[in-house]
Amino acid sequence: MVSFILNEQLIHTEHATGSTVLDYIRYYKRLVGTKIGCREGDCGACTILVGDFENEKLVYRSMTSCLLPLGNAHGKHILSVEGINQPCLQNSQAAGRQDMKELSPVQQAIVDTNGTQCGFCSIGFVMSLTGFILNEARKQYDDAIAAIDGNICRCTGYKSIERAAAIISEKINDRPEAETIAWLVEQKFIPDYFLQIKDRLIQLREIINKASKVLNPDLQKLKLAGGTDLIVQKALAVKKAEVHLLFDDHRLLQINFENGQCHIGAAVTLTTFAESKLIQGFFPDLQHYIKLISSTPIRNMATMAGNLVNASPIGDMSIFFLALDSELLLNKNGVNRTIKLKDFYKGYKQIDKATDEIIEKIIFTPPQKNHFNFEKVSKRTHLDIASVNTACQLNVNNDGSIDKIHLSAGGIAPFPKYLAATVSFLKGKTINAGILKEAIAVMNSEIVPISDVRGTKEYKRLLLRQLFLAHFKNHNGIIGQLLGK
Ligand code: FES
Ligand code: FES
Repeated sequence: MVSFILNEQLIHTEHATGSTVLDYIRYYKRLVGTKIGCREGDCGACTILVGDFENEKLVYRSMTSCLLPLGNAHGKHILSVEGINQPCLQNSQAAGRQDMKELSPVQQAIVDTNGTQCGFCSIGFVMSLTGFILNEARKQYDDAIAAIDGNICRCTGYKSIERAAAIISEKINDRPEAETIAWLVEQKFIPDYFLQIKDRLIQLREIINKASKVLNPDLQKLKLAGGTDLIVQKALAVKKAEVHLLFDDHRLLQINFENGQCHIGAAVTLTTFAESKLIQGFFPDLQHYIKLISSTPIRNMATMAGNLVNASPIGDMSIFFLALDSELLLNKNGVNRTIKLKDFYKGYKQIDKATDEIIEKIIFTPPQKNHFNFEKVSKRTHLDIASVNTACQLNVNNDGSIDKIHLSAGGIAPFPKYLAATVSFLKGKTINAGILKEAIAVMNSEIVPISDVRGTKEYKRLLLRQLFLAHFKNHNGIIGQLLGK
C-alpha cells in the first residue's frame, strides 16, 4: 500500500507502485489540471511538487509526474495545481457554489503579464514557480528563471513569463529565512492547510514505520532509484513490477568525507549533490556544470548511481566520475566488492554488475581546487543530451610536466570512455603545442564515434579535439601561456 497526502487529502492506495503519479492523479483522482505532454520529462506540462523531509526540514521539489513512480510518493506530500489556491467565499457566494478559489499570486502574475495563451504549459510553469517561492534558499529573479528551466511553452513566448517571474521574485523579497511556510500562508501564496502538513506527515510516517511491509508475490521485484530514463524506455515493465524504491534506504542518501575520500550514496540526487557545501568546495564551477545537465525537475529525481548503471555512452555523471578515477562499492546479499568505474563498462549498455547486485557508493579522492574541468556540447545548451561531453583532472608540476591526469569522454564510443591511451601518453610529458598535437592523434586512435542525430562521426572527433584543448585552456590558462598570451 502507498500512503501519502495529495494536496489536502490523505491517500492510502493499493494502486501499482510502478505506475506514475501523473496517471494516478489524472485518471484515478480526476485532478486534470496536471497536463500530459511528452511523457519523457522534457516539456514540464506535468510538473508537480513533492514535499519531503531533508535533514528534518520539509522541503518541496518540483518533479515531472510522468516519470515519478507512485511508490515514490509514499510518506510524502504531493502537490498538484488543485492544491495551491485559497478558497474564495465571495466568488463562491456570487456563483452559488461552495468551491470557488482565488488565484494564487503566482497565477495572478502570469495573468497580469499575459504569460499564457492556450494554457497547456501554464500549469507546469505555475507549479515550478510555486516550488521557487517555497524554496527557503532562493528568492532572486535568476533563481525564479532557473526554477522554470524544465518548462517549455510553444505559443506564448518566454518574455511575458519572465516578466511574471520578475514580479513573483519581487513579491517574496521580504520572505524571512525561517518560517517560510507560515509567511507564505500569511501572504496568501499558499492555502492555510499547509500549516498542518508537516505534523500530518510526521504522523503518517509513524504509521508507515509501524506497518508491516507485505509485498505482492505475483509481481516481479524491481529496485528503482530515480527511474528518469527507465520509465521513458520501459514504462509498462516498471508499472507491472513491485517497485522497491532505493530512496527509502537512508544509507544510500549520504554524502560523506572519510579518510581523505568522498563517499556519495547511490541514491543521492543530482540536486542534493549540487547543493552539498562539501562538494561545492571541491568543484568551484559545479553550478555551471550542473546547469548543462538536464533540468531542475529531473535533477530533483535523478540519482548518481542511476546515471552510472544506465551506461548511456553520453551519461554526464559517468563522464564526471570517470575523470575522478572513481570506485564503486557494490553489494550483493550483504557481500561488498569494489570496482574502478573505468572497469565497470564492458560494452554498449553492458556493465560489470549482477542482476541482484546494487551500487551502494561512489568513492573518489577529491581533486585539488581548479584542477578539474567538465565540458559538454549539445544541440541546445540546456535540457539536452550531449553530442560529446568530456571531463579532465589535471595536476601540472611547476616545470609544466604533467604530474597526474585522468580524462574521459562520451559520445565517441559505445559506452562512457576513460581515455586510457591518451592518459598514459600524457603522463609525465611537458605540455607544449607539439605534445598536445600528438596527444590528439593518440586520442583519435582510441575513439570510435558513429554518425547519428547528434552529429556526424567527423564532427564528434572535431568536437572532442576542441573540448580536450579547453581542458588545458581552463587549467590556469596553459594554452594561453603556450601561445605567449
Ligand atoms: Fe512532458 Fe511530463 S509530460 S515532462
Ligand atoms: Fe500555449 Fe504555453 S501557453 S504552450
